[in-house]
Amino acid sequence: MKLRILLFSLALFSSIPCFSFEGESGIRIYDLRTEMLNNPEGINALNPRLSWKIAGESRGLHQIAYRILVASSAEKLASDTADLWDSGKQNSSETNGIQYRGKNLQSSQDVYWKVKVWTSNSEDTWSTASHWSMGLLYFKDWKGRWIGMDSLTPSDRDEKFSKLSARYFRKTYQLPKQIKRAKAYIIGLGLYELYINGEKIGDHVLAPAPTDYSKNILYNTFDVTDALHTGENTIGTILGNGRYYTMRQDYKPYKIKDFGYPKMLLNVLVEYTDGSSEVLRTDNSWKMTAEGPIRSNNEYDGEHYDARKEMPGWSTPTFDDSSWTNALYVLAPSGNIEAQMTEYMKVVETIKPISITPLKPDTYILDMGQNMVGWLKLKVKGSKGDQIKLRFAEVLNKDGSLNVDNLRDAKSTDVYILKGGEEETWEPSFIYHGFRYVEISGFPNTPTLENFKGRVVNDALEESGTFETSNPIINQVYKNAYWGIRGNYKGMPIDCPQRNERQPWLGDRPTSAYGESFIFDNQKLYSKWLDDIRYSQKSDGAIADVAPAFWMYYSDNMTWPGTYLMIADMIHRQFGTVAPIQDHYPHMKKWLVYMRERYMDENYILTKDSYGDWVAPPATIEEGRGMTGNVKHPSKIISTAYHYYFLQLMSKFAALTENHNDISEYQQLALKVKKAFNQHYFNKDKNSYGSLTENILAIEFDLVPEPKKTEVFNRIIHQITKENNGHLNTGVIGTQWIMRCLTENGRADLAYTLATSTSYPSWGYMVENGATTIWELWNGNTAAPNMNSYNHVMLLGDLIIWYYENLAGIKSKKPGFKEIQMNPIMVNELNYVNASYNSIHGPIVSRWKKNNKKFIWEIRIPPNTSAEVYFPTKDLKNIKENGKPIAKIDGIELKEVKGNRVHLKLVSGNYILSSEL
Ligand code: BGC
Repeated sequence: MKLRILLFSLALFSSIPCFSFEGESGIRIYDLRTEMLNNPEGINALNPRLSWKIAGESRGLHQIAYRILVASSAEKLASDTADLWDSGKQNSSETNGIQYRGKNLQSSQDVYWKVKVWTSNSEDTWSTASHWSMGLLYFKDWKGRWIGMDSLTPSDRDEKFSKLSARYFRKTYQLPKQIKRAKAYIIGLGLYELYINGEKIGDHVLAPAPTDYSKNILYNTFDVTDALHTGENTIGTILGNGRYYTMRQDYKPYKIKDFGYPKMLLNVLVEYTDGSSEVLRTDNSWKMTAEGPIRSNNEYDGEHYDARKEMPGWSTPTFDDSSWTNALYVLAPSGNIEAQMTEYMKVVETIKPISITPLKPDTYILDMGQNMVGWLKLKVKGSKGDQIKLRFAEVLNKDGSLNVDNLRDAKSTDVYILKGGEEETWEPSFIYHGFRYVEISGFPNTPTLENFKGRVVNDALEESGTFETSNPIINQVYKNAYWGIRGNYKGMPIDCPQRNERQPWLGDRPTSAYGESFIFDNQKLYSKWLDDIRYSQKSDGAIADVAPAFWMYYSDNMTWPGTYLMIADMIHRQFGTVAPIQDHYPHMKKWLVYMRERYMDENYILTKDSYGDWVAPPATIEEGRGMTGNVKHPSKIISTAYHYYFLQLMSKFAALTENHNDISEYQQLALKVKKAFNQHYFNKDKNSYGSLTENILAIEFDLVPEPKKTEVFNRIIHQITKENNGHLNTGVIGTQWIMRCLTENGRADLAYTLATSTSYPSWGYMVENGATTIWELWNGNTAAPNMNSYNHVMLLGDLIIWYYENLAGIKSKKPGFKEIQMNPIMVNELNYVNASYNSIHGPIVSRWKKNNKKFIWEIRIPPNTSAEVYFPTKDLKNIKENGKPIAKIDGIELKEVKGNRVHLKLVSGNYILSSEL
């Protein structure tokens, strides 16, 4: 029987990640994480949080108790000697974020752990062992000095289009004894590559993740035991500019932070088998040169590489470094030193271009077939000194030439100079581009598709969801969103990857992040972003519109900085952790007080807004032709509505963090704001607060008095169907709520119309006009280029949430999907939806399909959770599992029959339910 269930489930759910079985019991404990990361090096939490998942087939499987063992060596752990911590048997179903409570952990300590779990099947099962290592916990643990070169070389230029060559460093060490273990701790600012004995360490790129270096800087940790050996060893590093040296952008110098010239601090802790140890560290005995092949590197302008200047073997002991100078001591950056606790950026995919077309003599246009973020890897054979130029862009002009108008003054150009001889391959180190097309000139012979590969680069987050429907427009928009979202993950969520901006604007992500979490496991990335936002807070409480605050915009509005609260809420809702709310609550509170004291008038109206419903579409495509998207319509209605919403969120956060005294304060103020909002903005004759967006906010934030709800909602329907002819006209604010607003109030059919429309303005319109990502503007194909990126994600609004929660029916009802709500909408045109989401408890699956006779719904609910399922039929007797009426089946409980749905409660397990239509 067990085998049959197993085969069935493997066939059914074969595409779901992380699923296999071990042992007789059929239960497996897997995906052990420390601070949400797999086997991490360099954890800087004193009491890291431990998590795991359970896999097993039996229905209703849940954890009854757990016991965590933590040991100082793999051997001790194997013999169950928990010399660091034995949690003892804890009667709890918790599997997520259990805080380590053992002996104090030391800097660089290796820690091994496993967990035993008792389940409802009364079997106890051990996980396999997992590992983490502690980072350098205290400032005093860092040895050595910061080195660099605070000046230009003759070929460098500090000007509008600054050019700064990469700095190369090296030092050879004699390691006298047999090595037991070695760890490298590196801070290389802005970006670094680390080499030992000629080999690059790690498969990450563009590290460390960017921060406001005056506030905090991130180090990375690597186990380099295997890279070192007894005898001579050379450590080499290359420093690129990243966000540290930002002297390029002088068009708003008063707003752009620059931190100085690249610099580094490196410690390699070497432990010998005889128990002794030493720390290899940066000092001025290191050698340095700026005369390597990377002649210039700049996030906006590109990388120039002269292969003639390569230095074969430069990070090996035999290299002659007599022409290099000694490294110089430089000032340490002022920020706190912290471990990078997010996933690294990596080359996550390599794609092939789809066409190459000659444009004019010696110039070709390469089409990647996809707007992508990363770079081009090239393969070429030619003569020494041949110079290839690659220019990147998202779109072409009518004549097939590159259109770079929307890059503003970003040059987005890579240059490669050949060394000649054998075939050469090259890809850049310290830059990325947002592009679909590449103009190639100076290629020594006729280039073919074989000469190029697209390297897709972003934070290597685990993919957490799959989604497909019977509607091709929805599927293509989803694909575009997938490419856009990941492309704009650059150690922080940026607005766009191509023009001279690429900034982490807060207002682009408050709701997008929530939708994104269904596709990527973005918990760590967004937790880091919350830190970035906190670091942007001024002592008076103000929070920046861009964080890290590389651009110093403090325009004091509710909607952009308020993202701080909404991201913390998203992490709690989707990943079940309160930690970010606990960490940030005082800062959020301070910000709200700051805004209230300065901008709330005596009538409880929040008078300050900056962006209004940013990028709301012009009424017609013609009207918007050639117009800039940079139009602000500040709205007190929007700022007051958000103030009310944030007071509600803060009440919830106060309860979660046991700041009980704050709750009544928030609630009392909220009542006054609600009253004022209605007094000032409700138009009784029209049953309206104003624009479509303003009405949507009023409904979604629960600002509308109960008796008026239907009328206001009808007004929304009128605005969409009559005034906008079946379209939305919302910008980034209204679009965050529109799909849920329509669906929750009974007009899922209209939400579906918006989701599948292909006329202006709509997501489908972008697809119809060739988009392979999401545009910044609804009228992106005709607007002025100055603010018109083809790869922004803010206009996704709540669309991805709606895909998963409302089309697939995968919604977190209790934080972290402890309880799942499965209530997919049924619209006539849609015949199937296949979706999965890998929650913190394991994969949730919802696959439904219908034809004119039958409705079939395959459901998987992971152990430790249950689901409220709303089956689309009026009649309980109509629902069958394997041909049997469900009334008699274990694990299925009838709650009620209401309207067109039978409400069931399902325990964990796999189900195939069906009904006659
Ligand atoms: C960015 C947006 C951002 C906005 C706010 C734009 O230039 O690309 O995404 O939110 O500015 O002013």
